[in-house]
Amino acid sequence: MKKRVIAYKKFSPALTARLQEAAELIYVDVTGTHGLAPLEDALPDAHGLIGSSVKLNAELLDKAPHLEAIASVSVGYDNYDLDYLTRRCILLCNTPDVLTETVADTAFALILSTARRVVELANYVKAGDWQASLGEPLFGSDVHGKTLGIVGMGRIGSAIARRGHFGFGMTILYNSHSPKPDIEREFAAQYRSLDQLLSEADFICVTVPLSPETTRLIGAREFALLKPESFFINISRGKVVDEKALIDALQKQQFKGAGLDVFEKEPLPADSPLLNLPNVVATPHIGSATHGTREGMARCAVDNLLAALSGKRPPDLVNREAWERRSQ
Ligand code: DGY
Repeated sequence: MKKRVIAYKKFSPALTARLQEAAELIYVDVTGTHGLAPLEDALPDAHGLIGSSVKLNAELLDKAPHLEAIASVSVGYDNYDLDYLTRRCILLCNTPDVLTETVADTAFALILSTARRVVELANYVKAGDWQASLGEPLFGSDVHGKTLGIVGMGRIGSAIARRGHFGFGMTILYNSHSPKPDIEREFAAQYRSLDQLLSEADFICVTVPLSPETTRLIGAREFALLKPESFFINISRGKVVDEKALIDALQKQQFKGAGLDVFEKEPLPADSPLLNLPNVVATPHIGSATHGTREGMARCAVDNLLAALSGKRPPDLVNREAWERRSQ
């Protein structure tokens, strides 16, 4: 008998066909007025789950007694309770690598658009305000040759460092759990404590995954360390930053601007003070959102899920302990 897979995200016809060939596939729409109810209803018979952007907590998953594996179409796995999944020997898989370069591109889109005021000035042209050659008050800041501080030097941090070093001739500073000699050699990068990095960099780019240790890693004390001419970029998770402190620092013009792809609450509420700040470029969590990369992530998630459900170790297993416990 085929195992039952619940997809809480739409897949391309080719990937849907692959899932259907290997499993009994049920698609549930969690974006409608009933919220998560369709997913909850499907959980009692589920062996596999595949999707993204839904917090699958213990309370919800207790309704899925036969669950063997979850394939998240994301690299981040802050929507899952790892201890709980491992206790139940449920395998959790993510989609690393495939999105690295695209997310690094997004970081640079935010760096360039904040520094060169691209959104603000494009709106200025559209509004018909371009009546004479641009005056100094509307000039931007240079990116090339400046100092880029990367908080979190994983795959994405390293792809950003490569762009900064080779593409823009930037000096690379970084902070991570421990120094990374390979990165230092490759990009002439220099390790700094978080405080040092925040006070030295012209562009601060946050790429750490969300975890209990990184929740509100950057708050009022940290924002006070930024140089007045610096820019703050967040492409990781909104909760890594104390958003109230960020708004306060931006309103007081403690630093020059922010490029934000992620927020404490998503979608960003329409009354967020961030939307009234001209020195903020806010994008709707588009880090990996290109056609090619999202299809690649979906393919990777399908590969992971089908491997897990057929008893094979999935390529991108997050909770290895669950696999080891299973084989005991
Ligand atoms: C991820 O994969 O975690 C990105 O944030 C896109 O959701």
